[in-house]
Amino acid sequence: MSHYPFLTELKPNRFVGKNIYAVFGNPIGHSKSPLIHEQFAIQTQQEIDYLRIQPPLDGFAAMLTQFFALGGQGASITIPFKLDAYQLCQQLSTRARLAGAVNTVWQKDGMLCGDNTDGAGLVADLLSQGVVIHEADVLIVGAGGASRGILEPLLHQKPKRIWIANRTAQKAHELVSIFQPLATELDVELMASSTAQLENHATPAFSLVINSSSAGLEDQSPLSTLAADHVFCTGGFAYDLVYGKTTVFMEQALQRGCRISDGLGMLVEQAAIAFSQWRQVDIKRLDTRAVVAQLRNA
Ligand code: ATR
Repeated sequence: MSHYPFLTELKPNRFVGKNIYAVFGNPIGHSKSPLIHEQFAIQTQQEIDYLRIQPPLDGFAAMLTQFFALGGQGASITIPFKLDAYQLCQQLSTRARLAGAVNTVWQKDGMLCGDNTDGAGLVADLLSQGVVIHEADVLIVGAGGASRGILEPLLHQKPKRIWIANRTAQKAHELVSIFQPLATELDVELMASSTAQLENHATPAFSLVINSSSAGLEDQSPLSTLAADHVFCTGGFAYDLVYGKTTVFMEQALQRGCRISDGLGMLVEQAAIAFSQWRQVDIKRLDTRAVVAQLRNA
């Protein structure tokens, strides 16, 4: 994976007369966010500078505060700072509150505002790939921060059911208890189990299976062969939130007749929502598919 220059300290002269945006993360040298936002800026004739900033692990709050004090206009937040951003923001969108994490920050009336555009980005990518979520039977594998970040927008698509399976069943049950009130309101069935329980002969096949676990980063699948036999079916769709490689999870799905996708489209779509919020431009003006194609060919 290519690495790009990033900042570990902020110099005031960089901000003078500029519309400065940035992505904050650690490590951050691999981030594609500047490439994506630069394309959106070209598409909408906006003048922006978009930086990569890598605060020390214990220095995120100080650096984000300094960034806005110097005139920074908006920030994307990535691993491992989404929780810190959530705690720093004085105003939170409903979906950020439910996600318990913030990936998009800006200032309004002197207050730090936070949103979480990850889940909406996922939904936009799925819909643009022709995946039907409404009335679908959805399985989410994994119950960490990534899973929590996508549940609210997925529920709003009103699938028939969302089943959350995790290696540690307890964490799946905790997510269900957080989202049960919204699921009830939207008339969506929510279930929790361990991933091992998916090996049970009564496990249904799902039309959409989303891997939110980090198993792929260790070149593993969170699903055993038997669980994969049960949950994937011909004509189904399998989506892995990570991007840039075909994971073991994606291979399992492909072998069982599913269409597959990595999370590159989600990355671009979540950035589009942030960009339109920051620059107050109509999101319909952003050609996200062109940016996805460009990144795939890069
Ligand atoms: P993130 O913010 O990326 O979601 P996280 O909160 O640490 O990170 O959650 C990681 C998720 O991946 C968890 O659901 C974890 O399962 P556990 O809760 O049982 O730890 C899951 N995970 C990580 N490695 C895994 C593996 N090798 N097999 C199955 N699940 C795995």
